Amino acid sequence: MTVVEDRETLLDTEVEALEERVATPKTVLMCRPEHFTVSYRINPWMEPANPTDTGVALRQWQSLYDTYQRLGFHVELIEPIVGLPDMVYAANGGFVLDGIAYGARFHYAERGPEGPAYSEWFAARGLRVVEPVSVNEGEGDFLKVGETIFAGTGFRSDAGSHVELARIYDREVVTLRLVDPSFYHLDTAFAVLDDKGGPASVAYLPRAFDDASRAILEHRFPDAVLATDRDAAVLGLNSFSDGRNVVIASKAETFARDLESKGYVPHGVDLSELLLGGGGVKCCTLELRW
Ligand code: ARG
Repeated sequence: MTVVEDRETLLDTEVEALEERVATPKTVLMCRPEHFTVSYRINPWMEPANPTDTGVALRQWQSLYDTYQRLGFHVELIEPIVGLPDMVYAANGGFVLDGIAYGARFHYAERGPEGPAYSEWFAARGLRVVEPVSVNEGEGDFLKVGETIFAGTGFRSDAGSHVELARIYDREVVTLRLVDPSFYHLDTAFAVLDDKGGPASVAYLPRAFDDASRAILEHRFPDAVLATDRDAAVLGLNSFSDGRNVVIASKAETFARDLESKGYVPHGVDLSELLLGGGGVKCCTLELRW
């Protein structure tokens, strides 16, 4: 029996897992956690009474940076600003696609100055910056799969920002409503594994979404990886993929195995210190599509 005949007996989803996943090296923006600490509480993960160790945060962040270098990514850096401890979570600094940066407008005043800081960086790098009207926290809530932008709301970004996105990028924007305060940004509950799309191109935590949003996800991604509560509790879904290599929290063990079963290659990093601020791999990563 030839391989081709063999394949005819397999389900489409099984064939997909056998295909070689293709890596497309990414260009990303990161921010060294030089001023990282937890001095206020704007999500349930943050507890200002608990101590943080900036040295540990820097070492762990470096391991993420080194992993990206090893994968052949191009990593750009923005200068951290004193008094903005959450600036390390670069994903929230904006959304960049087609050479256009849609600026961030933060929900909480504590992070307010980060919006203009990131927008200045985008402008200095030659991107066309569109000033935001609605509250939005950038790629923390906006994730592109194929030619569609999935946009989160419920805790941080206003639905009005989804309308702005559709107008700026002339793409379909699908609103997803988050319902669990621990998964307050879309990138804490939804991971893009292959940005070209396909039935197994994403992973998500079903209970983080309202019924209507869950129905959309089930329909669009019938073979998605569904995260376990244990993996979600270490922000396992807060991961970053080049289409083949998926950089994830090292403690997300079930997620790693599920990724392998779909043909992806997981790479674990330990960002436990940055988890104290409520962020992980993806939060520290803003994709630059320019
Ligand atoms: N402490 C930050 C906040 O609550 C964490 C941001 C995490 N970023 C993300 N893209 N999910 O705003």
